[in-house]
Amino acid sequence: MTSDPSNSSLYLHPYPSPELAAAHPFVELDFDRLDVVEQRRRGVAFLELMQRRRSVRMFSDEPVAVELIDLAIEAASTAPSGAHKQPWRFVAVRSAELKARIREAAEAEERVNYLDNRMNDEWQEALAPLGTDWHKEFLEVAPWVVVLFEQRYELRPYGEKRKNYYVKESCGIAAGIFITALHTMGLATLTHTPSPMAFLSNVLERPENERPFVLFPVGYPLPGARVPDLQRKPLDAVRVFAD
Ligand SMILES: Cc1cc2nc3c(=O)[nH]c(=O)nc-3n(C[C@H](O)[C@H](O)[C@H](O)COP(=O)(O)O)c2cc1C
Repeated sequence: MTSDPSNSSLYLHPYPSPELAAAHPFVELDFDRLDVVEQRRRGVAFLELMQRRRSVRMFSDEPVAVELIDLAIEAASTAPSGAHKQPWRFVAVRSAELKARIREAAEAEERVNYLDNRMNDEWQEALAPLGTDWHKEFLEVAPWVVVLFEQRYELRPYGEKRKNYYVKESCGIAAGIFITALHTMGLATLTHTPSPMAFLSNVLERPENERPFVLFPVGYPLPGARVPDLQRKPLDAVRVFAD
């Protein structure tokens, strides 16, 4: 191995090959090489920002400009995806009527989960420190409810279907970037899965190839909002070196 970054002899099989480049367009990577001081500064700043992200369950009704929602969705849509299929659709809801219908349907499902024991004891025990229950008032109070739908397959004009790849992994990454973008802009959200979520397809009249993945109330936290005093696993518990 060499440490010369410009050493092209490292590769016997360069990417793209001349044949590939002749068949499909390629452009030069847009990339800034940072010095180590700047790399560390950015890494520390990002970690400190992310350490303050929390799931919020008490929102204020203060409006949030549609532009901020669009920025978060556009950022989310930069996520890598299997075969670059971008198998997601973000449905942004601010209509009071639709939010009320979503809340009503979510609470109906959650009542069965919590009160009729659709969630088994082990699940309920895991949720106990969070103190969640079937009440989902925040779905009406928060100025936005954004529903991320996964596209199980691509639906082309005239009903032609095309397969999507690694749909859940792709949507999970997009969801993470969406949450991070909101947090970066000083907005709060909750990753919410009032399971089963099929009611969202009906209320939001989504096509047959889309399935609800996660629902995000978005807004500002209610002043004085409280969150569970959770501890995150230390680095040593989530990272091993395989040398
Ligand atoms: C896939 C997924 C589903 C979740 N579903 C719910 C949910 O339905 N209701 C809820 O109150 N929190 C839900 N959460 C939020 C978690 O409870 C929360 O992320 C966790 O307790 C850690 O807290 P933090 O996000 O503040 O760090 C969900 C989180 C994830 C990743």
